[in-house]
Amino acid sequence: MSLTETLFTESDLFAKRKVHLAVTGSIAAYKAADLLRAFKKAGLRVSMTVSNGALNFVSPKLFEALGASPVYTDTFGVQEDCFAHLWPGQNAEVMVLAPASANALGALAQGLADRLLTAQALAFPGPLVVAPAMNPKMYAHPALQANLKIISERGALIVKPDLGSTACGESGIGKLAQVEEIFWTTLKALTPDDMVGLDVLITAGPTREYWDSVRFLSNPSSGRMGMCLALAAWMRGAKVHLIVGPGVDFLMPKDIKVTQVTTAHEMFQASSDLWPAMDIGMFTAAVADFSPIPYKDGQVKFKKQDAGDSLEISLKRNEDILAHLANEKRPSQKILAFAAETTPDMESLVSVAQEKCKRKKADLLAANRVNPGESTFGSPTNQVCVVNSAGCGEIWPVLSKSEVAWRLCSWLLKK
Ligand code: CTP
Repeated sequence: MSLTETLFTESDLFAKRKVHLAVTGSIAAYKAADLLRAFKKAGLRVSMTVSNGALNFVSPKLFEALGASPVYTDTFGVQEDCFAHLWPGQNAEVMVLAPASANALGALAQGLADRLLTAQALAFPGPLVVAPAMNPKMYAHPALQANLKIISERGALIVKPDLGSTACGESGIGKLAQVEEIFWTTLKALTPDDMVGLDVLITAGPTREYWDSVRFLSNPSSGRMGMCLALAAWMRGAKVHLIVGPGVDFLMPKDIKVTQVTTAHEMFQASSDLWPAMDIGMFTAAVADFSPIPYKDGQVKFKKQDAGDSLEISLKRNEDILAHLANEKRPSQKILAFAAETTPDMESLVSVAQEKCKRKKADLLAANRVNPGESTFGSPTNQVCVVNSAGCGEIWPVLSKSEVAWRLCSWLLKK
């Protein structure tokens, strides 16, 4: 399972929230099963409607078996429940059409109610999430684009399809977006926009400092904490700019701007370019503090016969990105720092965190222990102690990184 598949499925943040998932006629209908599983894993309550078109590809039994209830089919007029068209509007908080066919988008734009599914959508007062999937020529057609524009202007969150080859053998934009992106967009629709208007810079993952053409100095950071923060801030309405180091599995929603870098210096440059326009900086990256003086400018591979029984490599100090940006910080800008420390216990971490928060000129600092055998690198959970610039500190219980991210965003807004 990829790292991104698990982000926000392992938290209770959205437990018991209610979603109505509508599946329409597309070969991608089978992917609705994965979406349903992500919703269920995150503790959401899911009801569904499977359109006549979708019945050509998937059975309602599949969704029932995976825990959706009730599962309506699109046979308007012969349902046992004569108010089935009102059910999602009365019972769900968000309605998701995934995949949404060209036909369904046309009906939605025009307000048609000739089928159970379209009547349910018309009678649904809450937020709509729409994930189109179809042949690229159909998707590019002005009629389809005009319908999508109407739906979007009415406030629906559109999860744009991906570029790639579709089942019909053509390539272009039309492939259903990744399940993760539809899942996160649904959570976004359930979230108050309390970070709207804020530009947030996030550094994530490790950096790699090359010594020769193939060898480098690095660390096992997965970038997970940074991605959880990126998703949390985005769900809450912020404009997110994510700078990620190498080797990070970083599928993110399309409107999160991702810059990929390799070295600490590249991360420093990308961060410095963005910082003046940012409101908040969240520095989760495990930046290498030193890099090797490269062997022959790093252009060739070192041969071991060129060394004796031992080899000395000199290191030079890298820029401290956070410290540099903190020195240029406007009073309205806020900084969230992280620290990974080896301390005997959580209690003794608090004073270390307080000292580092002050030294780094951060507004907030989250520290965790990386004692041997206790490292949280790559782990879905973390236990942090959080301190602010006023010296207040708290030790949080072991939480999913998604929940840590959520709470940290709330702390930053409080200050
Ligand atoms: N950081 C950074 N650039 C660096 C090093 C660290 O931006 N070159 C950021 C990290 O992303 C983190 C914070 O600074 O948010 C603290 O990193 P840490 O390595 O714990 O701090 P140091 O000051 O380098 O302290 P130590 O000597 O304990 O490593």
